[in-house]
Amino acid sequence: MAAQSTVPAFTPGFSRLVNVEESFPSDGSLAIERARYYSAELESGHIVLFPKSPNLIPKEDIDWLLGRKQSTSNYHKNIAYRPAEDRITGLDASEQQSTDDLRRILACFSSRCAEFLSHFLSPYAGKWNLDYASFRPIEEKGRAARLRARNDLLHFDSFPTRPTNGSRILRFFVNINPAESRVWLTSQTFEAFGPRFARAGNLLASVGGNAFTRGLRSVTRTLKLPFGRRPPYDEFMYRCHNAMKEDARFQEDTPKCRWEFPPGSAWMVFTDCVSHAVLAGQYALEQTFLIPQSALVKPECSPLSVLEKIAGHALTV
Ligand code: SIN
Ligand code: FE
Repeated sequence: MAAQSTVPAFTPGFSRLVNVEESFPSDGSLAIERARYYSAELESGHIVLFPKSPNLIPKEDIDWLLGRKQSTSNYHKNIAYRPAEDRITGLDASEQQSTDDLRRILACFSSRCAEFLSHFLSPYAGKWNLDYASFRPIEEKGRAARLRARNDLLHFDSFPTRPTNGSRILRFFVNINPAESRVWLTSQTFEAFGPRFARAGNLLASVGGNAFTRGLRSVTRTLKLPFGRRPPYDEFMYRCHNAMKEDARFQEDTPKCRWEFPPGSAWMVFTDCVSHAVLAGQYALEQTFLIPQSALVKPECSPLSVLEKIAGHALTV
């Protein structure tokens, strides 16, 4: 895959970088119009970058994470922290000794992230569902994975086992690697790409009344999943995620932007509307927030609104 930008800066329909250049108090407090500005940029498919991450992880915790030895059997996994259960997943029995330390470190990161964003993105405060946090200790360059699990292929995020039912996926990343950047590619946003995919794909083959939902039912049969297990919106997003990764020509030909997130930087992205791939980088922390439609400042830009406009009916349950 080409790893150079092939898109001129500010091309409509593509994600761009919004640098946070203004100063703000360490707790992240922003005037409401600035908070709405960043929320709107994010919802429009842009990447909001803090060249120097807010202080969300104590230095000794970063040192502990960087110094941690990963057992061979788990060498291919990211580590997840589930705030609602205060539980770590992705470790095996031989690593139980480090579980308590990891849980404490990720719990602290998760709550500090939520506290910071409740000020910085105040339109969403108190309305989100705090989803998982993760520690990503594996070098992404050359990382082996099943095709659909590969993150070096452009995709929109979709959670196959945790439907969002229209809530949006906001992710906050911190590159804790002291020396290496984390390298991403992005391409068109969902607003630009999604409608073409929806119209061209089999899902909308026979347009009419509830063709969309009928299409989803047949897709569901093909995938051997009982319909109803996922709301139509999630079924579509999952289908789209897989189709993008499985389409080698799309991956090769689609115009791309290349981004380097330097050591110590942090960035936020709605990964359900920013098509993204990670090419290189090791040691990142991440926290996911599920933002309901009712909290959005530009709900008309959301993937759900875009798709419902085409379908002509509701896609959530
Ligand atoms: C992804 O969400 O596809 C991976 C992003 C990353 O780990 O940098
Ligand atoms: Fe992703």
